[in-house]
Amino acid sequence: MRFYVNVDHIATVRQARGTDEPDPVRAAVLVELAGANGITVHLREDRRHVCERDVRILMETVRTGVNLEISAEEKVLDIACEIKPMQVTLVPEKREELTTEGGLALGDDKVRSSIQKAVERLAANGIRTALFIDPESEAVTISKNLGVDAVELHTGEYANTNSLDAVDWQLTRLTDAVVLASENDLGVHAGHGLTYENVMPVAAIPLLEELNIGHSIISRSILVGLDQAVKEMKTLIVQARGGFLEV
Ligand code: PXP
Repeated sequence: MRFYVNVDHIATVRQARGTDEPDPVRAAVLVELAGANGITVHLREDRRHVCERDVRILMETVRTGVNLEISAEEKVLDIACEIKPMQVTLVPEKREELTTEGGLALGDDKVRSSIQKAVERLAANGIRTALFIDPESEAVTISKNLGVDAVELHTGEYANTNSLDAVDWQLTRLTDAVVLASENDLGVHAGHGLTYENVMPVAAIPLLEELNIGHSIISRSILVGLDQAVKEMKTLIVQARGGFLEV
């Protein structure tokens, strides 16, 4: 299990004042020193938090690896193909959303064909590709057919569920999607909305290989510091995996 920390919201605080602090590049150093296995950033088309300068410097400074989340839009693909991060996770993007609300709508012909082109382009540049999808069998099967290396399962619905029965159902849904993706030789990642309170049942799912967690860690870091916030989350994930993370 790899534990990647999304540092977008360090940049959100910076953008709130339009100054140069806090710097996600400095934060990424602390996140790595605290034990994260990788740094995730979402270069949104509207640049509402992370900007091109951040990603370019992170490519020079990150010692683990950069997982770059982008849409399939040409201009951000150009950047990805030029800087060649360790992994690109393709995500849906809507200008008006507060955060990525759902997985890629791969049933839609237009979306599927733009994702297909993006995957081919990234693969031709030697970049590992993942698709951010809802934990549904059709989405896993389409992803496989699109030739990606991995899928990231959207855990937002699990995270937003309150009743115990519904939580169980969401976990079963996630587990089934993990098994199907793994049977199809896809790498299996998960993320979105995971917190200190809800991470353990997801982290415990066998065959799950990577977690991407951002908002909850950055929020806690404001109160306890980044080092402690990252370490506390890692401790929960390690506990859920029975005591160690096989990276
Ligand atoms: N994975 C993906 C694909 C995302 O888009 C995000 C949010 O940027 C995350 C994981 C992290 O979500 P959160 O900030 O809710 O932990």
